[in-house]
This record gives sequence, C-alpha cells and structure tokens, in this order.
Amino acid sequence: MFSHERIIIRRGPESGVPIIVAVHSTKLGPALGGCRLKTYGQWQDGLADAVRLSAAMTDKCALAGLPNGGGKTVIALPPDATPDGALRAAALHDAGTVIEELSGQYATGPDVGTGPDDMVTIGERTSHVFCRPVEAGGSGDSSPGTATGTVAALRAVCEARFGSPSPAGRSFAVVGLGRVGGRVARLLAEAGAKLVVADVDPVRKSLADELGAAWTSPDEAMTAPVDVLVPAALGGVLTPTTVAALRCAAVAGPANNQLDAPATADLLHARGIPWAPDYVVSAGGVISATAVELHHESPQQVTARLDAIAGTLTAVFTTAERDGITPSAAALAEAHRRLGQ
Ligand code: PHE
Repeated sequence: MFSHERIIIRRGPESGVPIIVAVHSTKLGPALGGCRLKTYGQWQDGLADAVRLSAAMTDKCALAGLPNGGGKTVIALPPDATPDGALRAAALHDAGTVIEELSGQYATGPDVGTGPDDMVTIGERTSHVFCRPVEAGGSGDSSPGTATGTVAALRAVCEARFGSPSPAGRSFAVVGLGRVGGRVARLLAEAGAKLVVADVDPVRKSLADELGAAWTSPDEAMTAPVDVLVPAALGGVLTPTTVAALRCAAVAGPANNQLDAPATADLLHARGIPWAPDYVVSAGGVISATAVELHHESPQQVTARLDAIAGTLTAVFTTAERDGITPSAAALAEAHRRLGQ
C-alpha cells in the first residue's frame, strides 16, 4: 500500500545528482528524518531506501512520543562518485533547496554519510535542519543521543531476556563501529560487557584494540555466539538466511531498517530470539535533537527522555508476551494507535 504524503525526486540543479525527499506522514506534526548521502548502484535503490526509511521514521517518532511525523532525504550518488569536495556541497545545497520548498512540513538532520558540518551546508538553503554544530547554533552530533538511547534499550533487552538490566559480564556483538556503533561499543565496554566488534573499514580495528574487544569480520560477528547481537550499520542485515544462522539470544541495535522484509520478524520469533524493533532502539537521535533545539531542555531532561526508551521497549516486550505476538507487531500496533489508524 502506498502511504506516503509526498515524495520529491529531482535531478539536483547544482549537483546533477538525484535528490530524493520523502515525506511519509505529518499526521502528528512536521516530519523529521535524516539526510543519507551515499553511493547507490542505481538511483532507484536510493528511492527505495527513502521510501522505507521515511515510513520507519513515522513509527520512530510516534513511539518516541514526539509531536512529529516521518520523512527522509536521500542523496543518491552514482556508484563511482567520491562524496566530497564541490560535488558534496552542491548536492547538500540541492537537498536544502527541496527541503526549503516544503515550508517546514519536513526537517532534516544527520544520517548515514552526513554529520553536523553537512547540516551547516544544507542550512545555507533552509532553516529546517537539526544538528548543526553547537558553535553554529545547533545541538551538534546526534549520535551520542542515539548511542545513549541504544544502551538504555539494551538494558531493557537484558532485563527482559536475562532478568537483569546490567550489561556487566554479558556478551555483545556490535556490527558497525561508525559514529553510533563506536559509541555503543565504548559505553558497553565501560559498563563491563564482553565485546565482539566488526566493521567493513579496517581502520576501526584500533577501537577494538582500545576497548579490549575481539575484532572480527561483519559476517562472523553476525553469527557470533553472544547474548545480544547489536546491528549498528546499514539495514537489511536480518534475512531468512542470516536469521537461520544466528547464535545470539536477542537482537537489538540502532541500525535503521534491519529486517529485509517485515515477515523476517516472524522468523526471529519462531527461533525464540527477541528482536527489539530498530525504530524504538534508535530514537535517541531525534529525541535529543528536538529536546535541545525545539524544547530547550536541560541535559538532565534529555537524559530522562533517552532513558524512557527502556520503558517503551519493556512495554513492547510485555504486550508481545501477553498477546503472543512478535515485538515488532506489538510496536507497530502501538504506533498505529498513536497515529489514530
Ligand atoms: N538519522 C536520524 C534517525 O535515523 C535522523 C535525525 C536525527 C533527524 C536528528 C533529525 C535529528 O533517527
């Protein structure tokens, strides 16, 4: 079913690259969703990403209790492009121009491939942008908020699965050590967890060494025999094939759109592996950015909001258990209820 309010696809006049802005829903308020900048085999793959990711943002904002809907921007670079220099700035300007035309119905922020400095560039064309650096008047990088919220979610997962929220002495496989995954790994290490970590970029091995974590390949980390698997990179990693090979007791991570298809949640359930819906786990970025920039909240208030992700997830697990449904079905039912559907 097509449920998006609006999708704009445009050859960026400044950059010549495809700019896609998807507004899924403004039912609860202006749509929010980051700007993804990466290469795609074909631009249609970027469109598919924008379609799925923007819909997930609607559920993310609804379950986070935010007065916002879901959207997403994708800058779909051709496969051979290097995303820096003049092309990067031009493409970000093009995205800003499209966002400005939406007159506040949608605001963007960082996502895979973009950070606070890029938000300054987008901000040269529109004011509807979160997470500029603090010096530039924004709330800065959203990944610390996402990581803190993820760890709150992981505590709820440990509580539900093992009877104690503490990560101390538990084992986690963190797949992806980017801005969010790297921080999650660090927070877990500080809390006394045992870690297996992986990233496609070999440079990140230095973090593994620093944290005393076992370094392995992303494929091996996916099937590591750990308490909790933490997908923290790109989406689509949970497929019928990977789910059959899992050796973890639970899956919960901040990567967006982890399931290749909704039905994969049923396969996880059938294997007795609870999956924490990614749109619940990863809400810390939007939660912290809007708390600081729109509601001018104190650090204590922001921390309380991030901790509340644990309560949301616990409620999801409790409902799922009570009704004999997957956590995914329980979360979606609650999101739909909040959206009045
Ligand atoms: N990348 C963030 C997410 O997926 C999007 C975001 C962060 C949007 C901060 C606005 C502000 O949730």
